[in-house]
Amino acid sequence: MRAHPASEAGSDDTSRRPAAEAILLVGGKGTRLRPLTVHTPKPMIPAAGVPFLTHQLARARAAGVEHIVMATSYLAEVFEPHFGDGSALGLHLEYVTETDPLGTGGALRNVAHRLHSAPGEPVLVFNGDILTGLDIASLVATHRASGADVSLHLTRVDDPRAFGLVPTDPGGRVTAFLEKPQTPEEIVTDQVNAGAYVFTRSLLDAIPAGRPVSVERETFPGLLAEGAHLQGMVDSTYWLDLGTPQAFVRGSADLVLGRAPSPAVPGRRGERLVLPGARVAEDAKLFGGTSVAAGAVVGAGAHVEGSTVLAGARIDPDAVVRDSLIGAGAHIGSRTVLDGVVVGDGAFVGADNELLHGARVWCDARLEAGSVRFSSDE
Ligand code: GDD
Ligand code: MG
Repeated sequence: MRAHPASEAGSDDTSRRPAAEAILLVGGKGTRLRPLTVHTPKPMIPAAGVPFLTHQLARARAAGVEHIVMATSYLAEVFEPHFGDGSALGLHLEYVTETDPLGTGGALRNVAHRLHSAPGEPVLVFNGDILTGLDIASLVATHRASGADVSLHLTRVDDPRAFGLVPTDPGGRVTAFLEKPQTPEEIVTDQVNAGAYVFTRSLLDAIPAGRPVSVERETFPGLLAEGAHLQGMVDSTYWLDLGTPQAFVRGSADLVLGRAPSPAVPGRRGERLVLPGARVAEDAKLFGGTSVAAGAVVGAGAHVEGSTVLAGARIDPDAVVRDSLIGAGAHIGSRTVLDGVVVGDGAFVGADNELLHGARVWCDARLEAGSVRFSSDE
Protein backbone atom coordinates (compact mmCIF):
# COMPACT_ATOMS: atom_id res chain seq x y z
CA MET A 1 0.00 0.00 0.00
CA ARG A 2 1.27 3.46 -0.88
CA ALA A 3 0.30 6.58 1.08
CA HIS A 4 1.35 8.72 -1.87
CA PRO A 5 -0.58 7.97 -5.04
CA ALA A 6 1.32 8.66 -8.27
CA SER A 7 -0.68 11.80 -9.13
CA GLU A 8 0.17 13.36 -5.77
CA ALA A 9 3.83 12.29 -5.86
CA GLY A 10 4.27 14.30 -9.07
CA SER A 11 3.25 17.65 -7.59
CA ASP A 12 6.07 19.91 -6.43
CA ASP A 13 4.70 20.51 -2.97
CA THR A 14 4.45 16.88 -2.11
CA SER A 15 7.65 15.74 -3.78
CA ARG A 16 9.80 18.22 -1.80
CA ARG A 17 8.15 17.33 1.51
CA PRO A 18 10.97 16.09 3.78
CA ALA A 19 10.94 12.75 5.53
CA ALA A 20 10.18 13.42 9.18
CA GLU A 21 11.94 10.39 10.61
CA ALA A 22 15.28 8.65 10.37
CA ILE A 23 17.08 5.65 11.82
CA LEU A 24 20.81 5.91 12.52
CA LEU A 25 22.79 2.68 12.56
CA VAL A 26 25.46 3.19 15.22
CA GLY A 27 25.95 -0.27 16.70
CA GLY A 28 29.04 -1.51 14.83
CA LYS A 29 32.24 -2.42 16.67
CA GLY A 30 34.44 -0.15 14.53
CA THR A 31 37.14 -2.85 14.44
CA ARG A 32 39.13 -1.22 11.62
CA LEU A 33 39.43 1.93 13.74
CA ARG A 34 41.02 0.26 16.75
CA PRO A 35 42.50 1.42 19.09
CA LEU A 36 40.31 4.54 18.67
CA THR A 37 37.21 2.46 19.24
CA VAL A 38 38.48 0.63 22.35
CA HIS A 39 36.81 3.16 24.70
CA THR A 40 34.61 5.05 22.26
CA PRO A 41 32.14 3.79 19.65
CA LYS A 42 33.06 5.00 16.16
CA PRO A 43 30.26 7.60 15.83
CA MET A 44 31.34 9.24 19.14
CA ILE A 45 34.98 9.86 18.18
CA PRO A 46 35.42 13.62 17.83
CA ALA A 47 35.80 14.95 14.28
CA ALA A 48 36.36 18.72 13.96
CA GLY A 49 35.78 19.20 17.67
CA VAL A 50 32.52 17.30 18.25
CA PRO A 51 31.54 13.62 18.27
CA PHE A 52 31.26 12.65 14.59
CA LEU A 53 27.58 11.78 14.96
CA THR A 54 26.80 15.43 15.74
CA HIS A 55 27.53 16.34 12.11
CA GLN A 56 25.14 13.68 10.81
CA LEU A 57 22.40 14.67 13.27
CA ALA A 58 22.75 18.36 12.39
CA ARG A 59 22.63 17.66 8.65
CA ALA A 60 19.53 15.48 9.05
CA ARG A 61 17.86 18.22 11.11
CA ALA A 62 18.73 20.80 8.46
CA ALA A 63 17.00 18.57 5.89
CA GLY A 64 13.77 18.62 7.90
CA VAL A 65 14.11 15.40 9.93
CA GLU A 66 12.56 15.76 13.39
CA HIS A 67 12.60 12.30 14.97
CA ILE A 68 15.65 10.02 14.94
CA VAL A 69 15.91 6.55 16.42
CA MET A 70 19.45 5.42 17.14
CA ALA A 71 20.08 1.69 16.81
CA THR A 72 22.89 1.07 19.32
CA SER A 73 24.82 -2.01 20.39
CA TYR A 74 28.60 -1.72 20.96
CA LEU A 75 29.30 0.69 23.89
CA ALA A 76 25.62 1.66 23.70
CA GLU A 77 25.65 3.41 27.07
CA VAL A 78 27.60 6.49 25.92
CA PHE A 79 25.15 7.89 23.36
CA GLU A 80 22.23 8.97 25.52
CA PRO A 81 24.26 10.77 28.24
CA HIS A 82 25.79 12.90 25.49
CA PHE A 83 22.82 13.66 23.19
CA GLY A 84 19.93 13.18 25.66
CA ASP A 85 16.49 13.76 24.13
CA GLY A 86 18.09 15.68 21.25
CA SER A 87 16.42 18.99 22.08
CA ALA A 88 19.77 20.84 22.01
CA LEU A 89 19.90 19.95 18.30
CA GLY A 90 16.19 20.61 17.73
CA LEU A 91 15.54 16.88 17.41
CA HIS A 92 13.56 14.21 19.21
CA LEU A 93 16.05 11.38 19.77
CA GLU A 94 15.34 7.86 20.97
CA TYR A 95 17.73 4.99 21.63
CA VAL A 96 17.18 1.27 21.19
CA THR A 97 19.94 -1.13 22.22
CA GLU A 98 20.48 -4.65 20.89
CA THR A 99 21.64 -7.05 23.57
CA ASP A 100 23.37 -9.09 20.87
CA PRO A 101 24.21 -7.28 17.64
CA LEU A 102 21.46 -7.88 15.07
CA GLY A 103 23.33 -6.70 11.98
CA THR A 104 22.26 -3.74 9.88
CA GLY A 105 18.87 -5.16 8.83
CA GLY A 106 18.08 -6.72 12.20
CA ALA A 107 18.83 -3.37 13.84
CA LEU A 108 16.33 -1.62 11.55
CA ARG A 109 13.61 -4.16 12.36
CA ASN A 110 14.40 -3.91 16.05
CA VAL A 111 13.73 -0.14 16.17
CA ALA A 112 10.87 0.01 13.63
CA HIS A 113 8.20 0.00 16.37
CA ARG A 114 9.45 3.43 17.53
CA LEU A 115 8.58 5.08 14.20
CA HIS A 116 5.43 7.20 13.84
CA SER A 117 5.26 7.18 10.02
CA ALA A 118 2.37 5.53 8.20
CA PRO A 119 3.14 2.32 6.25
CA GLY A 120 3.51 4.18 2.93
CA GLU A 121 5.59 7.07 4.28
CA PRO A 122 9.33 7.43 3.63
CA VAL A 123 11.80 6.82 6.47
CA LEU A 124 15.48 7.75 6.13
CA VAL A 125 18.22 5.33 7.21
CA PHE A 126 21.85 6.34 7.67
CA ASN A 127 25.00 4.37 8.34
CA GLY A 128 26.65 6.10 11.30
CA ASP A 129 30.10 6.59 9.80
CA ILE A 130 29.48 8.52 6.58
CA LEU A 131 30.56 12.10 5.98
CA THR A 132 28.78 13.44 2.93
CA GLY A 133 27.32 16.48 1.24
CA LEU A 134 24.33 14.41 0.05
CA ASP A 135 21.22 16.49 -0.63
CA ILE A 136 19.00 14.47 1.70
CA ALA A 137 15.80 16.21 0.53
CA SER A 138 16.58 15.28 -3.05
CA LEU A 139 16.98 11.59 -2.12
CA VAL A 140 13.52 11.74 -0.51
CA ALA A 141 12.13 13.57 -3.56
CA THR A 142 13.59 10.89 -5.87
CA HIS A 143 11.96 8.23 -3.71
CA ARG A 144 8.55 9.89 -3.85
CA ALA A 145 8.74 10.66 -7.57
CA SER A 146 9.83 7.15 -8.59
CA GLY A 147 7.41 5.39 -6.27
CA ALA A 148 10.23 3.07 -5.19
CA ASP A 149 10.10 0.71 -2.23
CA VAL A 150 13.64 1.67 -1.23
CA SER A 151 15.90 4.40 -2.63
CA LEU A 152 19.67 4.36 -2.17
CA HIS A 153 22.29 7.06 -2.36
CA LEU A 154 25.06 5.77 -4.64
CA THR A 155 28.54 7.17 -5.13
CA ARG A 156 31.37 6.29 -7.54
CA VAL A 157 34.69 5.10 -6.12
CA ASP A 158 37.99 4.02 -7.69
CA ASP A 159 38.17 0.75 -5.78
CA PRO A 160 34.69 -0.58 -4.95
CA ARG A 161 35.82 -3.81 -3.23
CA ALA A 162 35.26 -2.56 0.33
CA PHE A 163 31.66 -1.56 -0.40
CA GLY A 164 28.31 -2.77 -1.69
CA LEU A 165 28.23 -2.65 -5.49
CA VAL A 166 24.96 -1.37 -6.93
CA PRO A 167 24.52 -1.55 -10.71
CA THR A 168 21.48 0.29 -12.10
CA ASP A 169 19.62 0.38 -15.42
CA PRO A 170 19.56 3.61 -17.49
CA GLY A 171 16.55 4.82 -15.47
CA GLY A 172 18.41 4.40 -12.18
CA ARG A 173 16.55 1.26 -11.11
CA VAL A 174 18.80 -1.09 -9.12
CA THR A 175 19.49 -4.37 -10.94
CA ALA A 176 21.68 -6.13 -8.32
CA PHE A 177 23.32 -5.65 -4.93
CA LEU A 178 26.74 -7.26 -4.42
CA GLU A 179 28.17 -6.66 -0.95
CA LYS A 180 32.01 -6.70 -0.73
CA PRO A 181 32.66 -8.50 -4.05
CA GLN A 182 35.27 -11.27 -3.83
CA THR A 183 36.02 -12.01 -7.47
CA PRO A 184 36.96 -9.75 -10.41
CA GLU A 185 33.83 -10.92 -12.29
CA GLU A 186 31.66 -9.46 -9.55
CA ILE A 187 33.09 -5.98 -10.08
CA VAL A 188 30.48 -4.89 -12.59
CA THR A 189 30.27 -1.20 -11.71
CA ASP A 190 32.04 1.58 -9.82
CA GLN A 191 28.74 2.66 -8.22
CA VAL A 192 28.58 1.75 -4.56
CA ASN A 193 26.06 1.93 -1.76
CA ALA A 194 26.81 5.22 -0.01
CA GLY A 195 25.03 4.24 3.24
CA ALA A 196 21.93 6.47 3.06
CA TYR A 197 18.54 5.01 2.17
CA VAL A 198 14.89 5.95 2.05
CA PHE A 199 12.67 3.00 2.96
CA THR A 200 8.92 3.00 2.50
CA ARG A 201 8.09 2.26 6.13
CA SER A 202 6.18 -1.00 5.59
CA LEU A 203 9.37 -2.59 4.24
CA LEU A 204 11.16 -2.00 7.55
CA ASP A 205 8.33 -3.77 9.39
CA ALA A 206 8.69 -6.71 6.98
CA ILE A 207 12.32 -7.48 7.90
CA PRO A 208 12.39 -10.69 9.99
CA ALA A 209 12.49 -10.01 13.75
CA GLY A 210 14.57 -11.55 16.51
CA ARG A 211 17.57 -12.74 14.51
CA PRO A 212 20.58 -11.13 12.84
CA VAL A 213 19.86 -9.81 9.34
CA SER A 214 22.23 -7.98 7.02
CA VAL A 215 20.40 -5.37 5.00
CA GLU A 216 23.17 -5.57 2.39
CA ARG A 217 23.52 -9.36 2.11
CA GLU A 218 19.94 -10.46 2.77
CA THR A 219 17.33 -7.70 2.60
CA PHE A 220 18.37 -5.90 -0.60
CA PRO A 221 19.12 -9.04 -2.67
CA GLY A 222 15.90 -10.63 -1.36
CA LEU A 223 13.79 -7.62 -2.30
CA LEU A 224 15.32 -7.56 -5.79
CA ALA A 225 14.57 -11.27 -6.23
CA GLU A 226 10.92 -10.58 -5.29
CA GLY A 227 10.70 -7.84 -7.92
CA ALA A 228 10.62 -4.91 -5.50
CA HIS A 229 11.56 -1.48 -6.85
CA LEU A 230 14.93 -0.29 -5.56
CA GLN A 231 15.95 3.07 -6.99
CA GLY A 232 19.51 4.40 -7.03
CA MET A 233 20.46 8.07 -6.93
CA VAL A 234 24.06 8.59 -8.01
CA ASP A 235 25.66 11.88 -7.13
CA SER A 236 29.20 13.13 -6.97
CA THR A 237 29.07 15.29 -3.85
CA TYR A 238 31.67 14.90 -1.05
CA TRP A 239 31.54 11.37 0.34
CA LEU A 240 33.74 9.47 2.76
CA ASP A 241 33.26 6.35 4.88
CA LEU A 242 35.17 7.09 8.10
CA GLY A 243 35.77 3.42 8.86
CA THR A 244 39.59 3.50 8.80
CA PRO A 245 42.00 5.74 10.74
CA GLN A 246 43.27 7.47 7.58
CA ALA A 247 39.73 8.17 6.41
CA PHE A 248 38.69 9.42 9.84
CA VAL A 249 41.59 11.87 10.04
CA ARG A 250 40.91 13.01 6.44
CA GLY A 251 37.22 13.55 7.21
CA SER A 252 37.92 15.59 10.33
CA ALA A 253 40.42 17.78 8.45
CA ASP A 254 37.96 18.26 5.56
CA LEU A 255 35.30 19.43 8.03
CA VAL A 256 37.73 21.96 9.51
CA LEU A 257 38.83 23.13 6.04
CA GLY A 258 35.20 23.48 4.90
CA ARG A 259 35.55 20.87 2.14
CA ALA A 260 32.95 18.68 3.85
CA PRO A 261 29.71 20.43 4.80
CA SER A 262 28.34 20.42 8.36
CA PRO A 263 26.36 22.96 10.35
CA ALA A 264 27.92 21.56 13.55
CA VAL A 265 31.60 22.58 13.27
CA PRO A 266 32.19 24.69 16.41
CA GLY A 267 34.07 27.61 14.84
CA ARG A 268 35.12 29.18 11.54
CA ARG A 269 36.37 27.02 8.65
CA GLY A 270 40.08 27.32 7.97
CA GLU A 271 43.49 25.76 8.42
CA ARG A 272 42.96 24.98 12.09
CA LEU A 273 40.28 24.66 14.75
CA VAL A 274 41.52 25.28 18.29
CA LEU A 275 38.81 24.67 20.85
CA PRO A 276 38.43 26.76 23.98
CA GLY A 277 40.65 25.41 26.73
CA ALA A 278 43.42 24.18 24.41
CA ARG A 279 46.90 25.73 24.80
CA VAL A 280 48.98 26.20 21.65
CA ALA A 281 52.46 27.79 21.74
CA GLU A 282 52.71 30.95 19.68
CA ASP A 283 55.23 29.57 17.20
CA ALA A 284 53.63 26.13 16.82
CA LYS A 285 52.31 25.65 13.27
CA LEU A 286 48.84 24.16 12.93
CA PHE A 287 47.49 23.73 9.42
CA GLY A 288 45.77 21.47 6.87
CA GLY A 289 42.54 21.25 8.90
CA THR A 290 44.13 20.32 12.22
CA SER A 291 41.81 20.37 15.23
CA VAL A 292 42.96 20.63 18.84
CA ALA A 293 40.46 19.78 21.58
CA ALA A 294 39.97 21.31 25.01
CA GLY A 295 42.76 20.70 27.49
CA ALA A 296 45.27 19.69 24.79
CA VAL A 297 48.71 21.33 24.75
CA VAL A 298 50.91 21.93 21.67
CA GLY A 299 54.49 22.99 22.43
CA ALA A 300 56.81 25.53 20.82
CA GLY A 301 57.98 24.83 17.28
CA ALA A 302 55.70 21.83 16.81
CA HIS A 303 54.19 21.26 13.35
CA VAL A 304 50.76 19.70 13.29
CA GLU A 305 49.24 19.16 9.85
CA GLY A 306 45.88 17.63 8.89
CA SER A 307 45.63 15.95 12.30
CA THR A 308 43.09 15.50 15.07
CA VAL A 309 44.36 16.09 18.60
CA LEU A 310 41.86 14.91 21.20
CA ALA A 311 41.11 16.27 24.68
CA GLY A 312 43.99 16.56 27.10
CA ALA A 313 46.62 15.27 24.66
CA ARG A 314 50.09 16.81 24.79
CA ILE A 315 52.48 17.41 21.89
CA ASP A 316 55.92 18.50 23.02
CA PRO A 317 58.17 21.12 21.35
CA ASP A 318 59.47 20.49 17.83
CA ALA A 319 57.37 17.36 17.27
CA VAL A 320 56.03 16.87 13.72
CA VAL A 321 52.56 15.34 13.45
CA ARG A 322 50.99 14.80 10.03
CA ASP A 323 47.68 13.12 9.04
CA SER A 324 47.51 11.47 12.47
CA LEU A 325 45.09 11.13 15.31
CA ILE A 326 46.33 11.70 18.85
CA GLY A 327 44.00 10.09 21.39
CA ALA A 328 42.66 11.67 24.56
CA GLY A 329 45.39 12.28 27.12
CA ALA A 330 48.14 10.83 24.90
CA HIS A 331 51.62 12.37 25.09
CA ILE A 332 54.00 12.88 22.13
CA GLY A 333 57.61 13.69 23.01
CA SER A 334 59.87 16.35 21.57
CA ARG A 335 61.15 15.97 17.99
CA THR A 336 59.08 12.84 17.46
CA VAL A 337 57.73 12.49 13.92
CA LEU A 338 54.31 10.90 13.31
CA ASP A 339 52.90 10.55 9.80
CA GLY A 340 49.70 8.60 9.18
CA VAL A 341 49.62 7.23 12.73
CA VAL A 342 46.96 6.61 15.36
CA VAL A 343 47.97 7.04 18.98
CA GLY A 344 45.45 5.51 21.40
CA ASP A 345 44.04 7.26 24.45
CA GLY A 346 46.57 7.70 27.24
CA ALA A 347 49.54 6.36 25.24
CA PHE A 348 53.05 7.78 25.69
CA VAL A 349 55.38 8.15 22.70
CA GLY A 350 58.70 9.43 24.04
CA ALA A 351 61.02 11.93 22.36
CA ASP A 352 62.90 11.23 19.10
CA ASN A 353 60.71 8.44 17.76
CA GLU A 354 59.62 8.18 14.13
CA LEU A 355 56.37 6.36 13.34
CA LEU A 356 54.93 6.25 9.84
CA HIS A 357 52.22 4.89 7.54
CA GLY A 358 49.48 3.21 9.46
CA ALA A 359 51.27 2.51 12.76
CA ARG A 360 48.81 2.11 15.63
CA VAL A 361 49.97 2.76 19.18
CA TRP A 362 47.62 1.04 21.60
CA CYS A 363 45.81 2.85 24.41
CA ASP A 364 48.09 3.41 27.46
CA ALA A 365 51.13 1.89 25.68
CA ARG A 366 54.59 3.37 26.45
CA LEU A 367 57.26 3.85 23.81
CA GLU A 368 60.45 5.10 25.41
CA ALA A 369 62.50 7.91 23.86
CA GLY A 370 64.34 6.96 20.67
CA SER A 371 62.93 3.45 20.46
CA VAL A 372 61.42 3.29 16.92
CA ARG A 373 62.55 4.77 13.62
CA PHE A 374 61.59 4.11 10.00
CA SER A 375 64.72 5.75 8.65
CA SER A 376 68.36 5.92 9.72
CA ASP A 377 69.08 8.53 12.37
CA GLU A 378 71.20 10.66 10.03
N1 GDD B 1 22.77 -1.31 15.54
C1 GDD B 1 23.66 -1.97 14.79
N2 GDD B 1 23.80 -3.32 14.94
N3 GDD B 1 24.42 -1.26 13.93
C2 GDD B 1 25.32 -1.94 13.18
C3 GDD B 1 25.53 -3.33 13.29
C4 GDD B 1 24.71 -4.06 14.24
O1 GDD B 1 24.80 -5.28 14.40
N4 GDD B 1 26.51 -3.69 12.42
C5 GDD B 1 26.90 -2.56 11.80
N5 GDD B 1 26.19 -1.49 12.26
C6 GDD B 1 26.30 -0.09 11.80
C7 GDD B 1 27.70 0.47 11.93
O2 GDD B 1 27.85 1.13 13.18
C8 GDD B 1 27.75 1.46 10.76
O3 GDD B 1 27.23 2.72 11.12
C9 GDD B 1 26.81 0.85 9.73
O4 GDD B 1 25.99 -0.08 10.43
C10 GDD B 1 27.55 0.16 8.59
O5 GDD B 1 28.48 -0.76 9.14
P1 GDD B 1 30.02 -0.75 8.71
O6 GDD B 1 30.69 -1.77 9.53
O7 GDD B 1 30.56 0.63 8.71
O8 GDD B 1 29.89 -1.32 7.23
P2 GDD B 1 30.86 -1.10 5.99
O9 GDD B 1 31.42 0.27 5.97
O10 GDD B 1 31.81 -2.24 5.92
O11 GDD B 1 29.81 -1.27 4.75
C11 GDD B 1 28.57 -0.56 4.73
O12 GDD B 1 28.77 0.79 4.34
C12 GDD B 1 29.30 0.96 2.99
C13 GDD B 1 29.39 2.46 2.73
O13 GDD B 1 30.27 3.06 3.60
C14 GDD B 1 27.63 -1.26 3.75
O14 GDD B 1 26.38 -0.68 3.89
C15 GDD B 1 28.14 -1.15 2.30
O15 GDD B 1 27.18 -1.68 1.40
C16 GDD B 1 28.39 0.31 1.95
O16 GDD B 1 28.94 0.43 0.63
MG1 MG C 1 31.47 1.89 7.25
